[in-house]
Amino acid sequence: MGRTVIKFGGALITEKESRKVFRPGTILALAPILSEMANSGMDLIIVHGAGSFGHIDAKSGDLSKGRIPGREDEQRRAREMVMESMNELNKSIVSILEGEGINCRCHPPREWANGTGPEFEGDIGRFEEKGCVHVTFGDVVDVPGGREFGILSGDHLMERLSTELPEVDMVVFLLDGIDGLYDKDPRMKGSRMIPVWTSSTPYETSINELTDVTGGMALKVEVASRISKSVPLVTFVNGLDPGNLHNLLIGEDFVGTRFKRAKSDE
Ligand code: IPE
Repeated sequence: MGRTVIKFGGALITEKESRKVFRPGTILALAPILSEMANSGMDLIIVHGAGSFGHIDAKSGDLSKGRIPGREDEQRRAREMVMESMNELNKSIVSILEGEGINCRCHPPREWANGTGPEFEGDIGRFEEKGCVHVTFGDVVDVPGGREFGILSGDHLMERLSTELPEVDMVVFLLDGIDGLYDKDPRMKGSRMIPVWTSSTPYETSINELTDVTGGMALKVEVASRISKSVPLVTFVNGLDPGNLHNLLIGEDFVGTRFKRAKSDE
C-alpha cells in the first residue's frame, strides 16, 4: 500500500460561523475507518483545517496580510490566540484518533515551516517516518522579510506533501456534507456534482471573504488539479459519509469528484 494524504476541511470539523465550536461527531465517525486502514499498513497523513478556530480571529487581526505598522500589539495577541486555538483543535482531533488506536505524530507548521503559499520552506522529510499517522494543520507561521508572519493554508500543505513525499497514490479532500465539487452552488436547484474534473471543466464557486482568510473551495480545486498531475487518484468526497470514504480507501466504487489531468495539460 502506498501513501494516502487526507484533508479534514475546517467546515467539516468545526461550526464555521460560531467561534471555536468543535464538531467531534464527524471525527468520531471517521476514526474507526482510518484506524483500520492505518493498522492494515496504509501510510496515512492527515491535514486539518482551522474553521472557526482560526479564520475568525485571523481575519479580525488581518494576520494573512502580515505585520501592519501601528497594529503590532493587536496582531501579536491575535497570533497567540490563533496558535492556542489551533493547538486546542488539534488536541481534540488527535485524542479521538488515539482513542481508536491510531498512533499519531503531530507537526504544527509554526515549528517547521516558514512562508505561506505553495512555495513555503520546511523539511517535509519529517512526514516519512513509518509506524505512525502524521498530523498537521493550517497555521500561523513566520514569513521571511518585512511581512514577518502569515497564514499557511492546509491546502498548500496538502499540495507539497502529496507531490513531494514518495509513493503518494491517493489524495482525499473531505467536504462538509456535499458529495463532491458541484457545477454551481450545491444548494441551487439544478446544480450537479461533477464526477470527473479536468482543467477544462466549468464550475462556479464563491468565497466568503468575510470569514475565510485562505482560499475557500477555489483554492482546493486549484490545489487538487495541480496534485492530479503527479498522483493517480485525487478526490473530493463527503466527510459525513464514512461508508463511502471506506469504499474509496479500499479501492471500491465511491461517490465523489475525481480530478484528472486534461489531455491538453499533458
Ligand atoms: C487555515 O487553514 C489556517 C488558519 C486560519 C489558522 P485552512 O485554509 O486549511 O483551513 P480551512 O479548511 O479553510 O478551515
